[in-house]
Amino acid sequence: MNRSRRVVAVTRPPTEALARCELTHLDRQPIDIALALAQHRAYEACLARLGAEVMSLPPEPDLPDAVFVEDVAVVLDRVAIITRPGAPSRRRERASTAAALKAFRSVQHVAAPAMLDGGDVLCVGKVLYVGRSTRTDAAGIAELERIAAPFGYVVRPVAVTGCLHLKSACSYVGDGMLLVNRNWIDAAAVQEEQLVDVPPGEPHAANTLMVGDTVVAAVGFPRTVALLERLGRTVETVELSELRKAEAGGSCMSVIFEV
Ligand code: GLY
Repeated sequence: MNRSRRVVAVTRPPTEALARCELTHLDRQPIDIALALAQHRAYEACLARLGAEVMSLPPEPDLPDAVFVEDVAVVLDRVAIITRPGAPSRRRERASTAAALKAFRSVQHVAAPAMLDGGDVLCVGKVLYVGRSTRTDAAGIAELERIAAPFGYVVRPVAVTGCLHLKSACSYVGDGMLLVNRNWIDAAAVQEEQLVDVPPGEPHAANTLMVGDTVVAAVGFPRTVALLERLGRTVETVELSELRKAEAGGSCMSVIFEV
């Protein structure tokens, strides 16, 4: 990360509507919204402590999944791509996010009928790994390539078989390493990177995010944290237990970029 530049983290608080969120791999459980909000505030505080300027978008009380801002925008060095989420209920999340990102990047839009969720897009340098999932289809991958290729990015599809998004099973943890759960994605598609397997018993631990040089991981995966620390990573943990009932991962609640 270039330390002379600012780091912005776009977030949005959850609302009572989270009780009606989309669920794909989980059964619905009651969500304590006060607790989810408290965990979200602590998540934002962690990003701020690590040096990000947190830009909290207004709540969207009619849009259950609007807290998961990552899915509607992919911010690259010179362009912000507004996606077309695979879940129709999520498409109205885009307008306010696009308006906010206009202050930082030129904005381009994935065109209908393509489907692309930002949670399926993992940027490693100039490579965009993109999950082919229940939320992202071949047309969405083609749209990502159409918009990103002129800026020098290469797009590489990855089959997602056991989880919601590519980043549910694979995240960049610095120094050329990807933390990965090979049971949920076709890991052969990312094997050019140095792969670090999540320890047995912690399949959900592969979703992390980086702020500066620090890996932010969810509480509850001690073997993964110990593994990352042995690999020289600095790790911060945040409690996401209530938000996880809405099929959340740490990465999906922010869009982080330099300005
Ligand atoms: N609840 C997160 C999603 O399904 O998009």
